[in-house]
Amino acid sequence: MAGLMTRSPSSVALGRRGENSPGINTSGVNSPGVNSLGVNSLGDGGDEMWIDVIQKMDEVYTELVHSQAELETKNTRLEEAYAFIGSVLESMADVVIVCDENGVIQQVNRALEGLTGIADSSLRGAALASIFQPEAHAEIASFMGRLKAGETISQCELSLAARSEELSAISVNCSPRTGPSGRIDGMVIVGRPVGELQRAYRELDVAHKQLSQTQQQLLVSEKMAALGRLVAGVAHELNNPISFVYGNMHALKRYGATIVEYLKKCAPGRSYDEMQALRKDLKIDRLLADIEPLVDGTLEGVERVSDIVQDLRRFSSNQQESEEEFDVVRLIRTAADWVIKTQREKPRVRFDMPDHLEMKGRKGQLHQIVVNLVQNASDALAARTDGEIAIACARRGGDVVVTVADNGTGIPAAHLDKIFEPFFTTKPIGTGTGLGLYVSYSMAMKQGGDLTVANLPASGAKFTLTIPDMTGASANARG
Ligand SMILES: Nc1ncnc2c1ncn2[C@@H]1O[C@H](COP(=O)(O)OP(=O)(O)OP(=O)(O)O)[C@@H](O)[C@H]1O
Ligand SMILES: [Mg+2]
Repeated sequence: MAGLMTRSPSSVALGRRGENSPGINTSGVNSPGVNSLGVNSLGDGGDEMWIDVIQKMDEVYTELVHSQAELETKNTRLEEAYAFIGSVLESMADVVIVCDENGVIQQVNRALEGLTGIADSSLRGAALASIFQPEAHAEIASFMGRLKAGETISQCELSLAARSEELSAISVNCSPRTGPSGRIDGMVIVGRPVGELQRAYRELDVAHKQLSQTQQQLLVSEKMAALGRLVAGVAHELNNPISFVYGNMHALKRYGATIVEYLKKCAPGRSYDEMQALRKDLKIDRLLADIEPLVDGTLEGVERVSDIVQDLRRFSSNQQESEEEFDVVRLIRTAADWVIKTQREKPRVRFDMPDHLEMKGRKGQLHQIVVNLVQNASDALAARTDGEIAIACARRGGDVVVTVADNGTGIPAAHLDKIFEPFFTTKPIGTGTGLGLYVSYSMAMKQGGDLTVANLPASGAKFTLTIPDMTGASANARG
């Protein structure tokens, strides 16, 4: 293309009249139409004719000069356009192949050369199929027909005869190329190596898995940290029933010894009065009346211990929990007790709840949410002597609504939409992980419920937890 018209307008050998041009020969020697004797062979009026002819020639030359100048400009523009397209093609990471109607390669870019290791000069003129693996040949052969039928060919994965296995797979888009007549006389194939994409995707996948694992570990450690904080409260909880089981068993042991003594003294031959006196002396009737409540109390104490242990196990377990029926009021009291017992400055806790409220749901998760909310409320009241936490629970339609409010500092407006985000905490390093509300919110949502917050007009914050009661719904119907 370069050098299509190499002569510049200035190099055109054109003269002007009186400047040794092929026009009028001023010396009168060897000019066309003038013989060697200087006689004008055209006769009278011949000069004008010459002048006309010369003027015509001049016009033609002038036109020629113009069109050559125009051609030169167009040529320069064409060369620039050609260089521009070439540089775009060369800098493309995607493979570009231009073919004619018969699948003969006309143009390629450097990306293809890089993938195949074949020089661009050898690629041009080769059959398109020759640069692909045999299994791709049938598909490639169908391209032209499909394009002519108006079909779009996109995201078609083909195997290139590449330098290495890893580079061979490319995802291809193929478009028709129309000639000057408007007829499809070739195609343009643009391909993207999918090996790169796949590797990037695999790396992303590994990073994502590691992230999920770390997140899972963090959630577990948040739970364990919360459990650790609760241990003191739980120990106190256990101490109550254990001490009265202990006391009851001692009483029963004493009662047993007395009964044995009485039975030993009940020897044959003793009179009825003697026996009655002994019975009174040993307080056998009072003792017998005491046995049943003592045994009942002991059993209740043991059940309480067993419940606490079960609650603890459920709290610390990572297993997906199934729904069960339970008394939510009792659960809230236990959860609040666990937290409050661990506080140095114990806030006053006011309950506004019925005596019992049976519901069906994920008991362990609900327990964990209430523990988190009461813990946060206690933290907001830390070191205050007039701290108060109000806990309410009621049924609302098919839901159970639990609210936990405190008279602490409340939450700054700028933090209100952040506190449910993971790792958002205003507590000193090592105190809070910022996962309590995130975990609680996620658990509430997974059960089809909700957890919201609002600041109270006077002072403090109020969290509202809504959990659907699944009584009557089929078990585990919701996530
Ligand atoms: N009752 C509340 N009063 C005032 N601020 C609160 C209250 N509850 C939560 N917040 C704010 O929300 C933040 C996030 O609470 P979240 O329970 O998620 O994390 P944390 O308590 O800081 O740490 P973690 O619960 O993981 O130990 C708290 O740091 C606190 O700033
Ligand atoms: Mg918290």
